Amino acid sequence: MLSKKVEKALNGQIRIEAESSQVYLSMASWAEVKGLEGISQFMYKHSDEERMHMLKLIKFVNERGGHATISDLKAPKTEFGTFQKMFQELYDHEIFVSKSINDLVHVTLEEKDYATHNFLQWYVAEQIEEEALARTILDKINLIGNDKGGLYLFDRDVQQITVESAASDTTE
Ligand code: FEO
Repeated sequence: MLSKKVEKALNGQIRIEAESSQVYLSMASWAEVKGLEGISQFMYKHSDEERMHMLKLIKFVNERGGHATISDLKAPKTEFGTFQKMFQELYDHEIFVSKSINDLVHVTLEEKDYATHNFLQWYVAEQIEEEALARTILDKINLIGNDKGGLYLFDRDVQQITVESAASDTTE
């Protein structure tokens, strides 16, 4: 059984994962409109992953005798300036999510809820991967600079990252 404090903290995270999904969906749509096909597909997939993170939390809360509550969400912005700025925002957003997961883990220790603590280790590992991926992408962007050919290759490349991570997801 979840304590009220842990239930509330988990519901907070459910909201953050849902909002993350919306943020990346908005990025996907922006990139699609700009003709950045690979980047757009990467963002659509990322949005789906965040929804999966949210659903996993919802199931856990309900299975442990809590009530996962679905709330309204903050609307994401719809303009991102440049794709470089957009990926910087993705990175910053993942840092924010990591911090939120860490705070959540802290609450489970305070409450001596070791089952939830154990469950959250999956999210801790996932955040390490997501931060690393975002950093890799930012490094690639820095390498390209303003080179048009580089952008073409990057757009193709980032689509490949999508495919590769999709392949590794199915082997987990
Ligand atoms: Fe669910 Fe990208 O963190």
